[in-house]
Amino acid sequence: MKVLVTGGLGYIGSHTVVELQNEGYEVIIIDNLSNSSIEVLDGITAITGIKPQFVKLDLKEKQQVEDFFKRHNDVRGVIHFAANKAVGESVENPLMYYENNVNTLVYVLKEVLSLKQQNFIFSSSCTVYGQTDQLPISENAPVQAAQSPYGNTKQIGEEIIMDTCKVKPDLNSISLRYFNPIGAHPSAKIGELPIGVPQNLVPFITQTAIGIRTQLSVFGGDYPTSDGTCIRDYIHVVDLAKAHVIALKRLLDQKNKTNYEVFNIGTGKGSSVLEVVNSFEKISGKNLNYKIVDRRKGDVIAIYAETKKANEILGWKAELTLDDAIGSAWKWEQRINN
Ligand code: UD1
Repeated sequence: MKVLVTGGLGYIGSHTVVELQNEGYEVIIIDNLSNSSIEVLDGITAITGIKPQFVKLDLKEKQQVEDFFKRHNDVRGVIHFAANKAVGESVENPLMYYENNVNTLVYVLKEVLSLKQQNFIFSSSCTVYGQTDQLPISENAPVQAAQSPYGNTKQIGEEIIMDTCKVKPDLNSISLRYFNPIGAHPSAKIGELPIGVPQNLVPFITQTAIGIRTQLSVFGGDYPTSDGTCIRDYIHVVDLAKAHVIALKRLLDQKNKTNYEVFNIGTGKGSSVLEVVNSFEKISGKNLNYKIVDRRKGDVIAIYAETKKANEILGWKAELTLDDAIGSAWKWEQRINN
């Protein structure tokens, strides 16, 4: 059973390829290596014992996308990760984000419509909920005005798929709204590889602890939360990867209730920035050099998932804890700096 994974050498994509191969799927990866490294292929192979097929291709090249699908028309499902994901960069360069995240989605989806089996999984984000006071947040909550071009590409992406599903009954799609993915594979053979200064909390913590950065800035200590720092739902990347395999199987087994479905993928538990720092200090036995500074523009105060729909309808539940995720992220950071 052949599955196409776009962006399959990226952070979430690579962990998903591992879980797909563990479940017996034959995986073909497309990646343009713009924010990933070819060595990830070796990591996947070392974990699973199987080298997935890899095609270096930029999805902005429409003709090449068409040619690829002509050659691989036996693909039974497509999991589409390939996209840019840095909020700040998207504010600086919106057209790059619309081109990379929206145009490529259209090109891929058009080709999916030419397949015999049209099963499509989309990487969405809890960012579509914007600033919210509904906690935990459920899939029924209204999508709010996007806070960044990046967030907007996820909202537009969902709309493009939804509109297409309305008129193409053979297309079956699931959007997974991720909360905050962290951690690495427990083998430490694959993990997150941020380019330059990490924008996200956990890689910044581990890089500070290992001596690449001098100090973590905790953005805001005066939020109306228990300890004054922002709250997020941190989900282990391996749990998140497994959600994709389950979603794909749901489509392949024709268990989906409508041809377009949306699920929150989070733990359902909110953790503050200081709780993440404390978890790191406990797991690593190291003191982290951090300082509370001004709030970061655009941060929502608190968000965590209502997971009932994912648990009961999708049949997926997060199994790993925050400590598991932090421990795996630390193990990975130590490995790549050795
Ligand atoms: C953001 C996006 C999310 C996107 C993700 C991927 C929003 C609302 N969220 O998540 O959609 O998928 O990036 O990159 O746009 N923090 C610090 N110090 C740091 C870094 C972070 O205190 O050096 C704090 C932040 O203020 C926040 C928390 O840690 O409270 C998590 O931040 P981060 O890892 O950047 O993720 P989000 O902003 O939640």
